Amino acid sequence: MNAPWKPSGIAHRDPFTAFVCDETTAETLRPIAAELGWSTDKINKGGLRNAIQSLSVSASPQILFVDLAESGDPLNDINALAEVCEPGTVVIAAGQVNDVRLYRDLVASGIQDYLLKPLQPDMLREAFGHAQAMLNAPKHVEVAVDRPHSAIAVIGARGGVGASTIATSLAWLLADKEKRSTALLDLDVHFGTGALSLDLEPGRGLIDAIDNPSRIDGLFIERAMVRASDKLSVLSAEAPINAPLVTDGAAFHQLQEEMRTAFECTVVDLPRSMLVAHPHLVTDVQIAVIVTELTLAAARDTIRLLSWMKSNASEATVFVLANRLHAGGQLEITRKDFEGSIERKIDYIVPFDQKLAAQAAKLGKPLVEAGKNSKTAAPIVALVAEIASSVDAGAAQEGPKLGKGTSLIGKFGELRSLMPKRKPKAK
Ligand SMILES: Nc1ncnc2c1ncn2[C@@H]1O[C@H](COP(=O)(O)OP(=O)(O)O)[C@@H](O)[C@H]1O
Ligand SMILES: [Mg+2]
Repeated sequence: MNAPWKPSGIAHRDPFTAFVCDETTAETLRPIAAELGWSTDKINKGGLRNAIQSLSVSASPQILFVDLAESGDPLNDINALAEVCEPGTVVIAAGQVNDVRLYRDLVASGIQDYLLKPLQPDMLREAFGHAQAMLNAPKHVEVAVDRPHSAIAVIGARGGVGASTIATSLAWLLADKEKRSTALLDLDVHFGTGALSLDLEPGRGLIDAIDNPSRIDGLFIERAMVRASDKLSVLSAEAPINAPLVTDGAAFHQLQEEMRTAFECTVVDLPRSMLVAHPHLVTDVQIAVIVTELTLAAARDTIRLLSWMKSNASEATVFVLANRLHAGGQLEITRKDFEGSIERKIDYIVPFDQKLAAQAAKLGKPLVEAGKNSKTAAPIVALVAEIASSVDAGAAQEGPKLGKGTSLIGKFGELRSLMPKRKPKAK
């Protein structure tokens, strides 16, 4: 219920709406609302359920008062409210359950305050005073940043190379480390793991978008995207596998457009099949990360993807990231041979780390969050730093960058043994 990605353009909204379960509560509320200059007509009968119904079809107010008295499962209902309530609204709840755990859980799910019934005029004044202060507080998030939007596509050269793992990690790092509001768009519509890997329910947003591209606008984005953290939102789906994907791609284009205005970064987890069906998906992408493995098949497809990128997104900066690199030799193809056949360097190498991958999956966290300071995460962190600085320098707009890459192999000591002939190069 607070907006990480949008300037809080909520000044035009109604200042106040209330949903109360009984006349006594309404009576206590009316004079206070009047004192604050709010219309008492906005005090509606019916508690949380009515609030959810009403907000799903109308604009949210600046301050929302909801009575939880008739709710059997307040926490669950508050989460349902969060789905229909527009970001920025300050929510104050009231109820008769005196339980500090409930209070904490409610506050954790975004409620500004929980007032114990019966209500006293003074506690209402105080709560509304705080709410107004919240709304008037300077929004430190928005003032500082005015960067161009950057769209980053992550493409796996083969299935299972870890493209989704890398995409989720990039998005998380851009949001958490680089502090940029970030959207993760998982275009593996049937089998996507964008939400699952972050321990989230994907929701119906992406499926609705595909079904009704014309409905996609800023408000749709705000409502459909699932919040993973303060600065990271996800659009992912688990579309029923008995229904083929029917789309001309308009929805994806529209989604990218809207994300461009709503976020600073968009990370698109782009399955190869999507790229074949909807090549225009990469036309506005500034950065592409091709995730590969050191295998023959992956070398072949990296070559084909690099050449495809050259003709379909010649402006994009392309990085090649080799993932799941086994340390003990036993490679199907050496790094040197791989680089020889793709006719360029591998930019980043991420070691095979079964333990960390399993831990990340168990925790429902991105690989880089589960292994924050690990050697496995280091190259991904370095890639994000390079992406961020290239975006800031406007480097992404300067022209074709294909073929240019910076090897960071020198930074990862344990990998050096794999490449005896390569001189470590400091970045
Ligand atoms: N560096 C790594 N070391 C070990 N396992 C990894 C690594 N990167 C990804 N994985 C695992 O590989 C599997 C496939 O990853 P995923 O990201 O779903 O691949 P893709 O999207 O390319 O099909 C997952 O189980 C993931 O946890
Ligand atoms: Mg995937």
